[in-house]
Amino acid sequence: MDSSIPAKRKVKAPSQAIAAKAFHWINIVSLLLMIVSGLRIYNANPVFGGRAGWHFPRFLLIGNGLAEGRDWHFAFMWVYALNLLGYGLYVFITRRWQHRFASSNDVKAIQVSQNAKRKTYAWHRLVYTAIVPILLLAIASGLAMYKPAQLHWLAALFGDWQTLRTIHFITVPTVLLFTFVHSLLALRVGTLRLVKSMFL
Ligand code: HEM
Repeated sequence: MDSSIPAKRKVKAPSQAIAAKAFHWINIVSLLLMIVSGLRIYNANPVFGGRAGWHFPRFLLIGNGLAEGRDWHFAFMWVYALNLLGYGLYVFITRRWQHRFASSNDVKAIQVSQNAKRKTYAWHRLVYTAIVPILLLAIASGLAMYKPAQLHWLAALFGDWQTLRTIHFITVPTVLLFTFVHSLLALRVGTLRLVKSMFL
């Protein structure tokens, strides 16, 4: 093998399944709408400090007042949750989960591998995997607040109402942080070409 060939030329242009692209588009748009409408709901009675607490600036929010904020939130929760469910089924049925999600080998690689690239791949899969329970936590805590009478057992898992609200609220910075790290690692693993291939 000619070792003078630059590493870049050996890398095949990444291509993604249409289902992965559709999921990413729908997820990013619906998540954004969930955040800007959720923060509108938050503003009506801030989780921290009550009505006298800190409010988010209006230009960041969607909907005029609490009622419209809830309308947006409750409309897009279907899009957001069904998209996640659809993609989950797709990943499961096509067995993609076997090589996309982190395994104990990745945890071992992070601890002992001397190969920087291998470590980046391991982190990438670990973060990619960790996003899933966070997205599910947003849904579970949201559902518990949406139907507290019917889903009282779910609400009870979170303790009291304030804890439930706080957990649901905290999924926002957590999702944003994970999305940021996920994108950074995708850039490191496959450069901008990989990130672009997920959307175009
Ligand atoms: C299927 C998923 C979801 C459901 C069923 C849901 C449901 C709810 C409900 C019922 C409320 C309280 C509404 C009210 O008090 O009138 C709420 C608030 C909120 N949601 Fe969601 N939500 C979901 C996903 C998300 C996601 C993905 C985010 C963003 C990552 C988000 C962010 C927020 C925020 C910031 C609030 C305001 C918190 C508060 O002030 O209590 N939600 N959501």
